[in-house]
Amino acid sequence: MIKIINLETHSDERGSLVAIESLKNIPFEIKRIYYLFGNQPGIERGKHAHKNLKQIYIAVSGSCKIEFDNGKTKSEYFLNNPASGLLIDEVVWREIKEISPDCVLLVITNDFYKEADYIRDYQEFLNQIS
Ligand code: TYD
Repeated sequence: MIKIINLETHSDERGSLVAIESLKNIPFEIKRIYYLFGNQPGIERGKHAHKNLKQIYIAVSGSCKIEFDNGKTKSEYFLNNPASGLLIDEVVWREIKEISPDCVLLVITNDFYKEADYIRDYQEFLNQIS
């Protein structure tokens, strides 16, 4: 499943605040958070699938496009809202593109970093899902 989760935003005259809580507004137990920043012009990231990992992407600053390919259909999401999380809870090939220089892409996950969970070869991805 890939879907947008709207994160409750506490806004007042000072600005806005979003709280991230494991198993509350995030539908899994959080084990790892990482973020991408300092993006060089024109670079693309991702280009892999995960066997088991669940993730939520949040563009806390700037914007980027996430392209998905599940072997049958393709979809894309443009992230530019710190109050929107993109849940990825399926085995899907993803590519991160059009990353603005000021983009800070926060990624919340349900597991620690495990290289064995990555499928980094597109053909291997297609083989695994067929
Ligand atoms: P990489 O997988 O290339 O990032 P992307 O998903 O954008 O393609 O990761 C870059 C480097 O960071 C690589 O050496 C692995 C390391 N890394 C960690 O050590 N821990 C992590 O949680 C992640 C996501 C990456």
